Amino acid sequence: MAATSPVIFVTRRLPDAVEERLRRDYAPRLNPDDRPYPAAELVERSAGAAAILTCATDAWPGSLIERLPDGVRVIATYSAGYEHIDLAAASARGITVTNAPDVLTEATADVAMLCLLAAARRASEGEALVRAGTWRGWTPTQLLGIELHGATLGIVGLGRIGQAMARRARAFGMQVHYHARRRLPPGLERGAVFHPTLQSLLPACRFLSLHCPATAATARMINTDTLARLPSGAVLINTARGALLDDEAVLAALDSGRLFAVGLDVYAGEPNLHPGYRTRRNCFLLPHLGSATLETRNAMGFRCLDNLDAIFAGRPAPDALN
Ligand code: DGY
Repeated sequence: MAATSPVIFVTRRLPDAVEERLRRDYAPRLNPDDRPYPAAELVERSAGAAAILTCATDAWPGSLIERLPDGVRVIATYSAGYEHIDLAAASARGITVTNAPDVLTEATADVAMLCLLAAARRASEGEALVRAGTWRGWTPTQLLGIELHGATLGIVGLGRIGQAMARRARAFGMQVHYHARRRLPPGLERGAVFHPTLQSLLPACRFLSLHCPATAATARMINTDTLARLPSGAVLINTARGALLDDEAVLAALDSGRLFAVGLDVYAGEPNLHPGYRTRRNCFLLPHLGSATLETRNAMGFRCLDNLDAIFAGRPAPDALN
């Protein structure tokens, strides 16, 4: 680190290799205890920093960005999603916002497939039986699930992660349908059936997996009305953002049988998910593990640092969002 290295306020503990590179190239202000900082402390700890390396667990509404010290030039988020940052407010302060796309595609699609398999094959119930010591042995009718082979998977949002999910689903013999704002060229579609509306996609899907960002347009897109369009006994997978679901409607659909099961990795209000999920047997629940491999978490950090390096060298940031 040179004497004049920019100070980087790092809001959460990052993998060792990422923190090593930060120490080598910058003057990082780290968070070794990994304590999530409340809003006021985020501002206080930004004093003297040229950049903030943040995570999706920190919210940066306009009211907070307005209070940031003048020296802050960049907010780099250690995530692909950036709904937690008010981009317009950052632009108004002359702050560049960057994210870390691409590098978490395969890891996140793996977790989506894990959720799909676990929900379809009742993995939580099976594991609970074995762990409780109450399993009495194989029976012809125990914990019957749903076959993936030959079933249709509907994907909402056929971006990078959606396409990676589609590749996995094809390998399991599933038919892929999708809804996206725009139809993809055949080379990316790879035989997936396009639906111009969510409403037309839903009746075709025994399985539905969400891969779109959380925006005002997608908030609670899975609700009583849309759930009613799914075939009875469908399986819902969400590895995108919890805000896409109306939780009460999903729980009612689980109870009525409209949904056979759900596989969830993300929740509205994390980590305080709707308590109803924890009490339903037909929910496979993970704690936002989509990108949680060492390889991917390192790559996410390096991607953030590539963006900081570019900005502090006077080059355009590869992942600038504003
Ligand atoms: C992302 O990168 O958006 C992941 O969900 C982690 O926040």
